[in-house]
Amino acid sequence: MIDQKIVEEIKARNPIEDVMAQYASLKRAGSNMICSCPFHSEKTPSCTVFLARQSFYCFGCGAGGDVISLVRRAEGLEYTEALEYLGRRVGIDVITSDSDAPRFDKRRFYEMNKAAARFFRDILFNDPAGAMGREYASRRGLSEEIIKHFGIGYAPDSFSALHPYLKNLGYTDEEMNAAFLVGISSKNGRPFDMFRKRLMFPIIDVSGNVIAFGGRIVDDSDARKYLNSSDTPVFRKRKNLYALRYAKNTCAEKMILCEGYMDVISLHAAGFENAVATLGTAITPDQARLMAKYTKKVVICYDSDAAGQAAAEKAIRLITETGTESSVLNVKGAKDPDEFIKKFGAPAFSKLIGESKSKFRFTLDGILAKYDVKDTDGKVRALSEICKMLAGVYSSAERDIYTREIAEELGVNPEAIEADTKKIMRRLERERKNKERDDALREVSGIGDRVNPEFVSNVYAANTEEQIIALLLLMQENRDLLIKNPEMLTKDDFVTDFGRKLFVAIMQRADGEFVESDLGAELNVDEMSRLEAMKMKRYNLSENGEKEFTELCAALRAEGRKKSVTDKELSASELAEYFLSINKK
Ligand code: CTP
Ligand code: MN
Repeated sequence: MIDQKIVEEIKARNPIEDVMAQYASLKRAGSNMICSCPFHSEKTPSCTVFLARQSFYCFGCGAGGDVISLVRRAEGLEYTEALEYLGRRVGIDVITSDSDAPRFDKRRFYEMNKAAARFFRDILFNDPAGAMGREYASRRGLSEEIIKHFGIGYAPDSFSALHPYLKNLGYTDEEMNAAFLVGISSKNGRPFDMFRKRLMFPIIDVSGNVIAFGGRIVDDSDARKYLNSSDTPVFRKRKNLYALRYAKNTCAEKMILCEGYMDVISLHAAGFENAVATLGTAITPDQARLMAKYTKKVVICYDSDAAGQAAAEKAIRLITETGTESSVLNVKGAKDPDEFIKKFGAPAFSKLIGESKSKFRFTLDGILAKYDVKDTDGKVRALSEICKMLAGVYSSAERDIYTREIAEELGVNPEAIEADTKKIMRRLERERKNKERDDALREVSGIGDRVNPEFVSNVYAANTEEQIIALLLLMQENRDLLIKNPEMLTKDDFVTDFGRKLFVAIMQRADGEFVESDLGAELNVDEMSRLEAMKMKRYNLSENGEKEFTELCAALRAEGRKKSVTDKELSASELAEYFLSINKK
């Protein structure tokens, strides 16, 4: 649990309009502000930021909540993580006193990792136990200079080398284990070194902290060629990039994205200091955004095998979504960039970058490779796929250039390609409109309600529940009323599980200082949005006090009893009608 005072302090110092401005551009609208919703694509803004009550609500997609819910959704964070994020934004340290999640001091972790890196480096340079490491490093052509530059070291072939070293420095087994440096034997409970017989690549963040390690086995004694730190209190592998600390200084124009540590190291050694790599996983949206922060263009430089090329497609997609340019480079004649540099040298690699394929060219070549375009039938099929791709190009100028290029290449009339593309675009537009209409209808009738799947078959009760929840959230007097008269409404009176869950969560916190945001510890962002929607419906009604509340409680109790007798289901049109009628009220 986080101290409620801190939650309130964090909210107070992060005005929702400031935080929303990170994701959308806001315009004044009376006493509120409006923007295009950052959570679904739309042409006319339907997201409102309510300044007085410091919340947002999108009338298009139903996303809503306070500043914490906003950050959870926008950054994909858990409740506590979102608080930490907002805390960092204004310089507040969030101390969680969660009893089952052990609390760690991040600074100690950085120190411990640094000590481990120093330990591995000393073994590689000076220790008899480092002989195999030295041999391997020289076999891979790593100079002393580059080894030092990247802080590379060697984990000796021993279960108990790093552990006693760190223990001696005062670190606990629990800390070492949480940092993925030491494992605890399930058989005898004894600690053992996690990395053994591996060349060690420290992973260092942009501020210079050692946050994790990647270790490459120096022979084939382990089927796992690389062992990488899993996520730890100071490391999220999906949110970091290898060598970004160096690359960030030279990558304004372009950044090179590789698959492996060795690729990056070879590239940096050859003067390409703008190279980075993912950390043992396929590229993630977070990493794409991270790159977008530092560079205008990403040159994707994956292995030349089929897997590498398929991975490049995913990378293009994620990078394009961040609005960053990308191109794809094929290390012809080598398996990966590391081998290419060693075989052909740095100038050849420079030349390769110059020849890297635009995102468009890469996709086009992928299509052309699938069909025999000398054959009429093959050409027709390839063209049909190409037109689909063109229909997804947003800029008409860009589309025009590509259309001409393809027309010339395949010896067809550009007007024909254009006509087909337009046809597809019109169809997509129609489908989009239909979908919007279907979504709206579904919304109105509650069909496909993922947050409360029982809503549809219990419309009246569920709607009453939602109003009760809203009144509980809006008015302290209603919560007090229930605390004094618990028989007025109990959790068993609730018809839907979702309503019951909200009721229990609220009443657990109702005694004493009630902080609505704290419900976020139990509810996901969609559920939090729903709370906002419930409140929305009541905000504009002037009467939200004891009288209304008492009536609603009575209605739900009665409904609950009736419910157990008959289970009436409404048809979709009855539902739609019902909804329209309550929205009009
Ligand atoms: N990787 C991993 N676990 C494996 C294999 C690979 O985590 N068992 C990750 C590592 O981050 C590695 C990257 O995927 O750097 C690329 O893998 P691969 O191309 O197989 O390795 P190389 O970088 O070419 O390594 P080496 O040259 O040492 O063989
Ligand atoms: Mn490789």
